Amino acid sequence: MPESISIRVQAEHEYTVHIGSGNIALLPTIHTGAGRVVIIYQEPVTRWVEIVRAQFVDAGVSVTLVSVPDGEAAKSTAVLEDCWRRLGESGFTRNDLVVGVGGGAVTDLAGFVAATWLRGLRNINIPTTLLGMVDAAVGGKTGINTAAGKNLVGSFHSPVAVICDLDTLATLPRPDLVAGMAEVAKVGLTSDPTILSDLRRDVTTCCNPSSDLMADLIRRAVQVKADVVSGDFKEVSSSAARPTLGREALNYGHTFGHAIERVEDYRWRHGEAISVGMVYVAELARLAGLLGAAEVGTHREILGILGLPTSYVSGRWPQLLAAMQIDKKARGDQLRFVVLAGIGQPVELAGPEPELLLAAYDAVTA
Ligand SMILES: NC(=O)c1ccc[n+]([C@@H]2O[C@H](COP(=O)([O-])OP(=O)(O)OC[C@H]3O[C@@H](n4cnc5c(N)ncnc54)[C@H](O)[C@@H]3O)[C@@H](O)[C@H]2O)c1
Repeated sequence: MPESISIRVQAEHEYTVHIGSGNIALLPTIHTGAGRVVIIYQEPVTRWVEIVRAQFVDAGVSVTLVSVPDGEAAKSTAVLEDCWRRLGESGFTRNDLVVGVGGGAVTDLAGFVAATWLRGLRNINIPTTLLGMVDAAVGGKTGINTAAGKNLVGSFHSPVAVICDLDTLATLPRPDLVAGMAEVAKVGLTSDPTILSDLRRDVTTCCNPSSDLMADLIRRAVQVKADVVSGDFKEVSSSAARPTLGREALNYGHTFGHAIERVEDYRWRHGEAISVGMVYVAELARLAGLLGAAEVGTHREILGILGLPTSYVSGRWPQLLAAMQIDKKARGDQLRFVVLAGIGQPVELAGPEPELLLAAYDAVTA
């Protein structure tokens, strides 16, 4: 059984990400002094919510359960308003606590509920998807989707703790586990190439949630995110004030990936879209003379052995380009991409020529 480990994140306040089996039992030791707790969750994780709830009830804390619609449907203004209504009815004060149990959709929503109620309550994230553990629940970005786009309304609001209980991954559907591996592969490609070696050597064990190897991959991916967030909490990097790539490096593959998600009306899993997005920026970097064909091949090889998509349909370029233009990573009238100048060397490519963008799209069409 993988032993529990702790990773510190330094944001607007310092907090710990706890990674290990049976970690929900740590809740009583994370003292918050809250009198009331609201647990926001989706139906597929009910059995884990019961365990979380029992920890608070045993400690004499009053618990309000708020079940929200599954998947991305949770991140809507209507659901947000419903959460606010429930907090109002239960008399939540600034001393109380919001706990999100679930995937990235739930922790994004729960974090935003916490950020907005009474101008900020404390919250604990208990991610139950791989993507949630290695990405969404760590870093303090919270938010919802609106008609204007995905994640355009939100706030930086760091949790007081993140509890990754590896046992919860046992019930995660395989396609969601594989989609989470896209973010692990992203960390391998952008900053920790030893992850790529592990995936090549034994992809089956890497994708087994009860293995020590998967626990170690999660630890390494969280460590990279924690380091980057600690150095650039509000993503001010690569501005005039700060010329290096900080938190933006985490957006590798996300500009094209978000465009696919939008064009596909969010029917694709986030990790699947990011997988194609990473192949797209690898091709873009090759066409820009920054990356070799062998490294582009590494992208297809690693994502391919994980069973992730590496190509997209042809004939969608106008919609994809329009979606990228409104993506929040476009600044002014320039499109900006995180690309690699080699494995583990993220750099920014700002304003590539339209012909280059289209040629990279052609290179990822099936
Ligand atoms: N805030 C950030 O920094 C950040 C980063 C990356 C992604 N995100 C957001 O995360 C979301 C995607 O997160 P996701 O990939 O975790 O998907 P998700 O939250 O939609 O969860 C996927 C599915 O798995 C179910 N589920 C979750 N845990 C389970 C478990 N242990 N057992 C059984 N079923 C389980 C959920 O109910 C859902 O049906 C997107 O909204 C994305 O924008 C946020």
